[in-house]
Amino acid sequence: MCGIIGYVGTEDAVPIIVEGLKKLEYRGYDSAGVAICQKDGFAVVKQEGRLNALEARLAERPIAGHMGIGHTRWATHGEPSDANSHPHVGSRNMIAVVHNGIIENYRQLKEFLEKKGVPFISQTDSEVVAQLCEYYYSGDIMEAVIKVVNRLEGSYALGIMCLEEPDTLVAVKKDNPLIIGVSGHGQFIASDVPAVLKHTNKVYYLNDKEIAMLRKGDVRFFNFDKEPLQKPVETVTWNIDSAEKGGWPHFMLKEIMEQPRILRDTINSAAGGGNGTVIGRLDVARFNKIVLTACGSAYNAGMVARYVFERLCRLPVEVELASEFRYRDTVIDAKTLVILISQSGETADTIAAMREAKSKEATTLAIVNVVGSTIAKEADECLFTAAGPEIAVATTKAFSAQLVLLYCLAVRFGARLGKLAEKEEREMLAEIDGLPDKAAKVLEQIDAIQKYASACVVYKSIFFIGRNIDYAIALEGSLKLKEISYIHSEAYAGGELKHGTISLVEEETLVVAIANCERLYGKIMSNAEQVISRGAKVLLIGNCPYAEQNGKLSGIRLPECADLFSPSLSVIVLQLFAYYVAANKGLDIDKPRNLAKSVTVE
Ligand code: F6R
Repeated sequence: MCGIIGYVGTEDAVPIIVEGLKKLEYRGYDSAGVAICQKDGFAVVKQEGRLNALEARLAERPIAGHMGIGHTRWATHGEPSDANSHPHVGSRNMIAVVHNGIIENYRQLKEFLEKKGVPFISQTDSEVVAQLCEYYYSGDIMEAVIKVVNRLEGSYALGIMCLEEPDTLVAVKKDNPLIIGVSGHGQFIASDVPAVLKHTNKVYYLNDKEIAMLRKGDVRFFNFDKEPLQKPVETVTWNIDSAEKGGWPHFMLKEIMEQPRILRDTINSAAGGGNGTVIGRLDVARFNKIVLTACGSAYNAGMVARYVFERLCRLPVEVELASEFRYRDTVIDAKTLVILISQSGETADTIAAMREAKSKEATTLAIVNVVGSTIAKEADECLFTAAGPEIAVATTKAFSAQLVLLYCLAVRFGARLGKLAEKEEREMLAEIDGLPDKAAKVLEQIDAIQKYASACVVYKSIFFIGRNIDYAIALEGSLKLKEISYIHSEAYAGGELKHGTISLVEEETLVVAIANCERLYGKIMSNAEQVISRGAKVLLIGNCPYAEQNGKLSGIRLPECADLFSPSLSVIVLQLFAYYVAANKGLDIDKPRNLAKSVTVE
């Protein structure tokens, strides 16, 4: 969590930093701050609250300079407050630091420094980095930084300025993302590409345990042994417009509406140069088991994919939360394919699951949206979703891109294994190819979905049910609703209702039922009847035929679609439903309370 940015160049750093922080606010938004290196000291402005509170403070107390660092925080150690906000400056006012990550041994380091008489003013783990750097500084910032990192345990992306070296910005990365942008007027550090896209699409991706020394005209890279490194500059293909709201009230709505295009782009990129591209070098015959592992919505994408892989590849498939997988003594080996799903490619638990799988000699295949991310770099194989930058904290388009890429992978995998005849493979791919147009048709029902959702703000609890693959996508519908609307919600397999949950159903409970599996229509409809007879209302999403029941049963009809791929259509209704419930409650949809987009801590 947390977003960091830094700039050194010929322009005024403050507006560049504030603008960049706006693009990183999805990473944390409980406080923010800026430090500028000036001749006689650091000018620091920090403010608890959203970024606009920092902007207001900066308007009251303008600061300026050509080198600076900024931070937007998601608190881990120490409550959100001005004192705990970054940047942190050492007690001798010599070093200023922004940090994303967690310094696990900060207590020991703090004790060590306090014994030497260093006073601390915050409760954060991050302040020790600034204080320790001052402690070690004796005329060479790089020397001091290397001494510091050799004592740090944990994860960190750092931006560091030293008053005595006012033309040098230092960046360090270990287990948290950090990119370096280079432009005609100056150099940048940032947690994510959108923060610098306005100025440049030329970036370097720092690897773990690398240091970058940025000056106005150049960037140099070193490892922790101070040896120089050569790194390739890369060109980002993301477009600046995709990181702007472009007239939409929220990024989430914009990103939902972009989905037909994102599906098309992802399908095209999966098709690549021809048959089987998405399989790449995978020796599919080698595997006797597939494990899908991820967190949150990405885990739900894995839940959907399980049904698809099982049906098309006829292999045992397990789905596991990455946070559980990493600590279980899982039975996997060199014959297991572990598929990691992650939008950011930086989720701490998913990274740990990947490393665990590699240590057991499984092959790791990542489905990732962010090029240059840790998972993209470390997995044995990586497939990229073509979702572009996703800004809203609640994922929508990246989730849809994950689903469609997993479908393509499963079809090619099954065909390569000989489990799908050529004709079946062609038919499946044609079905997938039709999804973007069908998604556009679903979006045409936006008004009906909005109208239904607007009346749902009154519910205290909403249940989602489905059977088979519809159950898997019900999990995502429920997660989406609770994270942005703060309405309690749970998803159940339809068949589980009568094993306990139905006791919660009473007058005016809302049950959202998803029904796309033809052979199970009858069963899900009888679940709907059971809850209606206990006073509930039902919203039916799918292509199951139904008759409206005077206010008790309403429906959103989806285009015909093979049941295996129908989650791509259901999810659009579920996203819009969640969005409009939250919008009608007047909530901060793009930045739900307590959440951050990229969960880089456990
Ligand atoms: C929910 C959401 C989260 C993420 C989860 C994993 O809308 O966005 O549940 O899906 O934090 O993140 P990534 O995909 O970046 O690994």
